[in-house]
Amino acid sequence: MKKVLAFGASNSKTSINKVLATYAAQKLKNVQVIIADLNDYEAPLYSPDREIEIGIPEPILRFDELLASVDGLIISLAEYNGNYTTAFKNLFDWLSRLNNQNIWKNKPLLLLATSPGGRGAMNVLKITKEIFPFFGGNIIADFSLPKYYENFHEGNITDVSKRAELNGKIVQFIEVLKTS
Ligand SMILES: Cc1cc2nc3c(=O)[nH]c(=O)nc-3n(C[C@H](O)[C@H](O)[C@H](O)COP(=O)(O)O)c2cc1C
Repeated sequence: MKKVLAFGASNSKTSINKVLATYAAQKLKNVQVIIADLNDYEAPLYSPDREIEIGIPEPILRFDELLASVDGLIISLAEYNGNYTTAFKNLFDWLSRLNNQNIWKNKPLLLLATSPGGRGAMNVLKITKEIFPFFGGNIIADFSLPKYYENFHEGNITDVSKRAELNGKIVQFIEVLKTS
């Protein structure tokens, strides 16, 4: 059975992106889903000096092992000031010091993003689509849900066209996952 890792790129205990990543992952049939919480992989703030001093922290090595153990990924990006959350950027920077920057290991990746605002974290999604391919990111499809608190209720996307759009992206992702 294929394995998929899903997580929100946030360390908020009430992360709406973790909810969205989990929602998308639950739509995968006959797939083993692992939901990760970035709080379980917290590492000291990256610095070159710290890297020399302590090497790669254990939580980063653990997260890298988790990435290696799955066949595909669903990441939902939270946006802080048009960019990554501090927690995700720190994880990203540490991971980039391993495996010749092949962070995402060319595994099929469904990229999501949501925020309470009308742009639905489109800035961080755009940045990510540009840079992830340089880090082994094999992005199969991407999706942004704007106005999370208007469009997501009781475990479902209530906007019909947005729900259909995500379902279509999930189908694309599954097709690639099956052959990976
Ligand atoms: C420091 C900070 C900066 C933020 N900047 C943005 C932003 O640039 N764009 C946006 O859409 N939302 C922004 N927000 C709102 C977040 O989208 C919102 O907090 C969201 O819940 C974060 O996702 P999460 O719940 O998955 O952590 C910001 C929130 C914080 C705390």
